[in-house]
Amino acid sequence: MKKKADSSVELHPILAERWSPRSYDGTAEISIPDLTGILEAARWAPSSSNSQPWRFVVARRGDHRFAQMVDSMAGFNKVWSPKASALILVAAVTIQPDGTLRPAALYDAGLAASLLTVEAHHRGQVVHQIGGFDHAAVIKDFNLAPEITPIAILAIGKQAPADALGDPKMVEREIAARTRVPLESLILSGAL
Ligand SMILES: Cc1cc2nc3c(=O)[nH]c(=O)nc-3n(C[C@H](O)[C@H](O)[C@H](O)COP(=O)(O)O)c2cc1C
Repeated sequence: MKKKADSSVELHPILAERWSPRSYDGTAEISIPDLTGILEAARWAPSSSNSQPWRFVVARRGDHRFAQMVDSMAGFNKVWSPKASALILVAAVTIQPDGTLRPAALYDAGLAASLLTVEAHHRGQVVHQIGGFDHAAVIKDFNLAPEITPIAILAIGKQAPADALGDPKMVEREIAARTRVPLESLILSGAL
């Protein structure tokens, strides 16, 4: 199923066609070259003073890290995410060695996740960002150091038809139109 962005000018095809499905092919496996490629895309993201504060926990369906991440999911995320081929926990080093905060770390990690997402779609995978998970559980499960903050879990895999979700409410949500606020309302000042 496609849900091309309704933009005022033509966008790069990956940016126009990317969206966040929840219906994954639970038999598809992601190859190591594809997984490596999408993590390389994150690695080469820009960051404040080239600090590269992003950190990842990489899980593939069937391994114990995958099961731990699924266990940490909240609500309906626990229902659809197990069919993804991989789950990647995105975290950031938010505290510097001298104990002060790194103000740009979350922004930097978001940029890395964004480029990771584009590379994944380029490789025929889809990505769904998940903020609804138990942060304390992943800190404990993956033994994250105090200076590392978990941010999101990315579900990556092959898209399946919407009706494969089964539950009518989830199917309805899957096929619903994508919406955005108008571009004009995002521009605080400055004419286009
Ligand atoms: C930080 C973040 C957290 C999110 N958390 C969830 C989540 O817990 N569950 C979920 O189903 N979708 C989650 N989403 C996905 C958004 O709902 C989705 O990106 C948004 O509705 C736009 O849809 P689109 O990506 O298809 O354009 C999250 C997205 C982001 C960026």
